[in-house]
Amino acid sequence: MPSLDFRIPTPEEQESYAEIFARSFGLEPDDAVQWVRNFGYENTRVLVEGGHVLGGLVVYRAGQWFGGRRVPMGGIAAVAIDPPYRGRGCATALMREAVRAFAEEGFPIATLYPATPGIYRRAGFEQAGSRFEIRVPLSQCLFREREVVVRAETPDDRRTIEELHRRHGARYPGTLDRSDPLWARIRNPGGSRRTAATCSQGQTG
Ligand SMILES: CC(C)(COP(=O)(O)OP(=O)(O)OC[C@H]1O[C@@H](n2cnc3c(N)ncnc32)[C@H](O)[C@@H]1OP(=O)(O)O)[C@@H](O)C(=O)NCCC(=O)NCCS
Repeated sequence: MPSLDFRIPTPEEQESYAEIFARSFGLEPDDAVQWVRNFGYENTRVLVEGGHVLGGLVVYRAGQWFGGRRVPMGGIAAVAIDPPYRGRGCATALMREAVRAFAEEGFPIATLYPATPGIYRRAGFEQAGSRFEIRVPLSQCLFREREVVVRAETPDDRRTIEELHRRHGARYPGTLDRSDPLWARIRNPGGSRRTAATCSQGQTG
C-alpha cells in the first residue's frame, strides 16, 4: 500500500471529493456539493496520494440513547473512492483512520449504514440493530380523534419537535439523537424539500 495522507481537505481537494462523491452515489454535482456543505467541509476527510484525492468521507457528531442516557456517537457517511483507485484498500485505510480519529476525540461509538459489510468489518464495525421504514398513505389513516389538528411544521415548531424526539428516543435504546446537520437532511433530503407535520390537540381551524 503506497503512502497515503488522511486529512481535512483544502478548497481544491474539497471540490475533487465532491465530484468523486457525486459520481460514486449517482448524484447531480450541485446536489453533492450541497449535501457535503450541509455537514460542513471541516467535517470532510480525504485520502490523498501525491497531491491527488483518491476519495473521502464525511464525519458527523451525534448521539445514541442507551439506558436513558445519551452516549456520544461519531457518524460516518458518504464513503467514496474514485473508481480508478478502487480495490486497493483505500476505503479500508480511510475507515481505519476515521475510527482512530473518533477514538482520539473520545467517542465510545461510531456508526454508519454500510453498502457492503467487508470494508467496515475490517475497520472494526459489526452489524447491530435494525432499520425500518414504514410508509402509510394518509388516505388510509382512519382518524377517530377529530380534535387533533395536523399542520405543516413552521420554524417555531422545530425545537419542540426535536425535543419530543429526544424524549421519545431516551426510552428506546439505540435511537439516534440527531445533530443539526442530520435534522437538516430530514427536512431537505437530496435537494428536495419535505414538510414535516405537527399535531396539536384541542385546537380547531
Ligand atoms: C465501496 C467503496 C467505497 C470501496 O472502496 P475501495 O477502496 O475499493 O475499498 P477497499 O479496496 O478498501 O475494499 C474493497 C472491498 O469492497 C468490496 N466492494 C466494493 N464495492 C462493493 C460493492 N458495491 N458491493 C459489494 N462489495 C463491494 C470489494 O469486493 C472488496 O471486498 P474484499 O476486499 O473483501 O474482497 C467504493 O467501491 C465506492 O466508492 N463505491 C461507491 C460508493 C459506495 O457504495 N460507498 C459506500 C457507501 S456505505
